[in-house]
Amino acid sequence: MMQVELTVNGERRSDDVEPRLLLVHYLREVCGLRAANIGCDTTSCGACTVLLNGESVKSCTMLAAQASGQDVVTAEGLAPAGELHPVQQAFRAEHGLQCGFCTPGMVMAAVSLLRENPSPTEEQVREGLEGNLCRCTGYHNIVRAVLAAARGSGGRPPMASTAGASGESAPLAGTAGQHANGQTEVTA
Ligand code: FES
Ligand code: FES
Repeated sequence: MMQVELTVNGERRSDDVEPRLLLVHYLREVCGLRAANIGCDTTSCGACTVLLNGESVKSCTMLAAQASGQDVVTAEGLAPAGELHPVQQAFRAEHGLQCGFCTPGMVMAAVSLLRENPSPTEEQVREGLEGNLCRCTGYHNIVRAVLAAARGSGGRPPMASTAGASGESAPLAGTAGQHANGQTEVTA
């Protein structure tokens, strides 16, 4: 066992973990945060996407030990309790989810994308979400949602004025069950 110290959704934590424990398993099993889903064993689906120091990462691709000393945000930590982050709001307004399994990862990838580029084109959104797969193939509405969030038409202020928000939980459909492999690329 080894000790990791990191900030998760604004909370400083110190936990003893197995050195080979993946970050996604740490978040789900040690922290009890179930928004980051596990949808593949090939680091290809993006269902496990979280923010590490503000940038999206697939939490199945790194060890909890590698995240020690860093800041992690999951979908639960995007917005204050009882509220939705503008991107979550836009996904709801634009029907950007079906079963919801990919949604937390999509939302985190979109948050990271919009922080880097607050006014993306449709093509840039599609490129930015290439690492996140939706088995329900709901890409059209997902892209619409991200563009709506960028415009501030998801019912909340535009992303450019809300970047950096973190706090307590309000996940959007973050607890669906696992999927097998076989997702479709972002081409819709
Ligand atoms: S579970 Fe991490 S990329 Fe699929
Ligand atoms: S909404 Fe079902 S996997 Fe994307």
